[in-house]
Amino acid sequence: MILTEEEREILDGAKGETYGKVLKTLVMFGDAIGAERLIDVTHPIHIVTSSIGGILLKPLYDIMDEIIENGIKTREPFTVDPRPYDHENIRCTDEEMEVFNELYSIQDAYEEQLVKVGLKNENAYTCTCYFEEVGNIPQYGDILSWAESSAVVYANSVIGARSNRNSGIIEMFGGIVGKVPYYGLLTDEGRKVDWIIEVKTTKIPEAQILGSAIGLKVVEDIPYIKGLDRFIGKELNLENKGYLKDMGAATASNGAVGLFHVDNLTPEAKEHGEALIKENAKIYVIDDEDLQRVYESYPVMWQDPSAQPDMCFIGCPHLDFTQLIYWTHTICKNLKANGLDQVKIQTVIATAPDVIDRFKNTPEFELLQSTGVILSHTCPLMFMNNPLIDAKPIITNSNKLRTYTNARYYIDDTIAQLICGKG
Ligand code: F3S
Repeated sequence: MILTEEEREILDGAKGETYGKVLKTLVMFGDAIGAERLIDVTHPIHIVTSSIGGILLKPLYDIMDEIIENGIKTREPFTVDPRPYDHENIRCTDEEMEVFNELYSIQDAYEEQLVKVGLKNENAYTCTCYFEEVGNIPQYGDILSWAESSAVVYANSVIGARSNRNSGIIEMFGGIVGKVPYYGLLTDEGRKVDWIIEVKTTKIPEAQILGSAIGLKVVEDIPYIKGLDRFIGKELNLENKGYLKDMGAATASNGAVGLFHVDNLTPEAKEHGEALIKENAKIYVIDDEDLQRVYESYPVMWQDPSAQPDMCFIGCPHLDFTQLIYWTHTICKNLKANGLDQVKIQTVIATAPDVIDRFKNTPEFELLQSTGVILSHTCPLMFMNNPLIDAKPIITNSNKLRTYTNARYYIDDTIAQLICGKG
């Protein structure tokens, strides 16, 4: 890569050996990926590694130690993905606790490291750092050093900021030196469209299945989605931002999408329209039958496919405030229709700690509590890293959770019926 004078001096040790190694890592990564230069990061980072579970991430602990010993911090306070468990709110058996304790034995020490390197605050644990309540909200055009796939695709697509799908540690190093390799989704050319998606369904598609269908088809390419504005509007609002959050997370996990454009809605599609589309872009038409085909293709991974569900996770990615209110009323309505007061399946709704704080000041908080639903700040996926939990018949409305665990996916309406069902 072509480096500035200042960058060369840092590599030569001008800011100490460890700081130099941090920059050297980014330069080597940039060279490997074919980047020509580094570019300044213009907004606080969000990091993906909220825990060190298992031996694979142990080197991260040692790297953090070296950074701390040398008095190095990120330039600005950062947010981080959700914690892997929530023992205060989600009850576990003694055996499950034992596995958690072993799996995340250095969690407390690691969290102390995060604070020393620049963690924003105690509430900073969520994958949806861009919520108003959390406040790590990039602006259009900001250059980011983020790694969490659901957050990257949201920031790129819905906000119009620019981040590659970085890996853990690389994104933190970008926050320390304030630079990232300039390539891929940071460039105008790298944000051009490979696929035109034509949504021709008769009703609004389930966000998580639409995202899944798109991700499975385009894999890591960039889709331009036409026909969706018919259902979710031409102006961004709280409802369609939640929809795009969930759809995007499914594109990013069922495929590896880092950016999508929605015709007439997302900022770059509004600004540039079809000029974003590359010549010879491929076309994928999505109709009701296609979504049904995708839904029916999901394998059932339970040990006993006909088992009764034991547990339910809603909120991966974390629910936003509007979705939390929606689910509270939906659950109450379904329970009432069935003459019940409490959910029949242990149900965990996951959201950001700052959203929980806001929610506690609403009448819906007590309503939700009365249904027996557990409100948690955990990451359902990391919670299910515990093999004893993953062995249970668990249902979810998250396509990301379905993809990475044995959880079984159902659409929102079915989830509501199952957790509120009689008998
Ligand atoms: Fe967020 Fe964890 Fe799901 S980080 S997107 S809740 S896997």
